[in-house]
Amino acid sequence: MRILGIETSCDETACGIVEDGKRLLSNVVLSSMDLHAAYGGVVPEIAARSHIEAIIPVIRQSLQQAQCTWDDIDGIAVTYGAGLGGSLLVGVMTARTLAITKNKPLYAINHVEAHIYANFLTDAAPSLQDYVLPKHQPEFPMLGLIVSGGHSQLVLWRGHFDYTLLGQTQDDAIGEAFDKVAKVLGLPYPGGPNIERAAEHGDPYAFNFPKAKMPNKYDYSFSGPKTAVLRAAQQQIGESHDFPSHKLSQRLSEAQKANIAASFQRIAVETVVDKTIMAYEEGKPLSVVIGGGVASSPELRRQLAQRLPIEIAYTDRKLCTDNGAMIATLGCFHMLHNQPVADPYKLAISPNLSM
Ligand code: KG4
Ligand code: ZN
Repeated sequence: MRILGIETSCDETACGIVEDGKRLLSNVVLSSMDLHAAYGGVVPEIAARSHIEAIIPVIRQSLQQAQCTWDDIDGIAVTYGAGLGGSLLVGVMTARTLAITKNKPLYAINHVEAHIYANFLTDAAPSLQDYVLPKHQPEFPMLGLIVSGGHSQLVLWRGHFDYTLLGQTQDDAIGEAFDKVAKVLGLPYPGGPNIERAAEHGDPYAFNFPKAKMPNKYDYSFSGPKTAVLRAAQQQIGESHDFPSHKLSQRLSEAQKANIAASFQRIAVETVVDKTIMAYEEGKPLSVVIGGGVASSPELRRQLAQRLPIEIAYTDRKLCTDNGAMIATLGCFHMLHNQPVADPYKLAISPNLSM
C-alpha cells in the first residue's frame, strides 16, 4: 500500500510517498525560508504564495523520485491543521482536487501527530540510502515529545489513534523560543540551527537561566528564560532593562553571544527533557520518540540519550523538520486501521487543531 502525503502548513512545500507505513519511497521538500529570512520570521502571505507556485512541481518530483505513477498510489494524505490558514488551504485544495480527479481515498492528517510518525520509517528505497533511519518501529505504549516551531507537547500513546496529551508549553513553542533568542543575538532565522552553531564555542554553564515551575507538572514555559536572556544580554554590555533588544547584538562580543546561546540551549533542552524523564518514570513506555524541527538538535539528542534508562532511536534530521513523508506515514496507518476517509468535496482546514 502506497500513500502520497502533502504538507504545506508553514513555509515548506512538501510531498512524500511511503509504503506500508515503514518504507520511504520519496521525500521532496521545497522551503521558502530564504524569502522570510529578511523579515526574521515566516510571513504568512509570502508562504502561501510560494506554496501555490511550488505545489504541483513538488508533487510531480515526488512521484518521479519514487518511480511511481498515479496508478501506484492507493491514497492521498494531507495536513489539514495545525498551521497557517493560507498555507494549509493550498495543500488541502490540491489534495481534494487530486483525490477527486485521480479517484483516491483522502486522509486528513494532524501535522503535530505526524511529526511523531516520522519515527515509524525504518527502510528507504535505494535512491534514499543517505537517510539514517531507526532499525525498528516504536512500540506501544509510546511516549512522544513533539518539539517544533509551533508546538511543544508531551503525549502518551497506548496504540495508534489512542493517546493522551500529558503536557504542553503554556506560551512559546520551544522552536519559537530558539528563534526569538536568536533574534536578540543577531542570528538569522531559523534560530535553532544558528544557536546550535554559536553554542559550539560557548560555555553552557556561563549563565543559569531559570526554569519555570508549572501547576501541571508536565507543562512548561519559555517566557521566563527568554526574558532572562534579554536581561543577561543587557547586563553584559552594562545597560539597563530598557535598552532596546534590537540594538543588543551590535554591542555583544562573539564570546558573549556564544555563552548566551550555549546556556539558553542547555536550559531550553533541559526543560523538555526533565518533563520527558518524569513522564517516562511514571508511564514506563516501551518506546520514547521525538519529532519536530527541534528534534534535530544534537543537544536534545545528547541529553535524552544520557538521562533515559532505555535506548532511544532517532530518525534522520531531514525527517524532523516539516516534510511530506511523515504525513504519508501517518496516512498509511489511517488506511491500515480503517480510519474514516475525508470528503474530498468538503474537507476544511483547521489552523488551530490540537492533539
Ligand atoms: O517542525 P518545524 O520544521 O516546523 C514547525 O512545525 O514549526 O520546526 C522548525 C523549528 C524552528 O523554530 C527552528 O528554529 C527549530 O525548529 N530548529 C531547531 C534546530 N533545528 C531546527 N531548534 C534547535 N536546535 C536545532 N538544531
Ligand atoms: Zn512541523
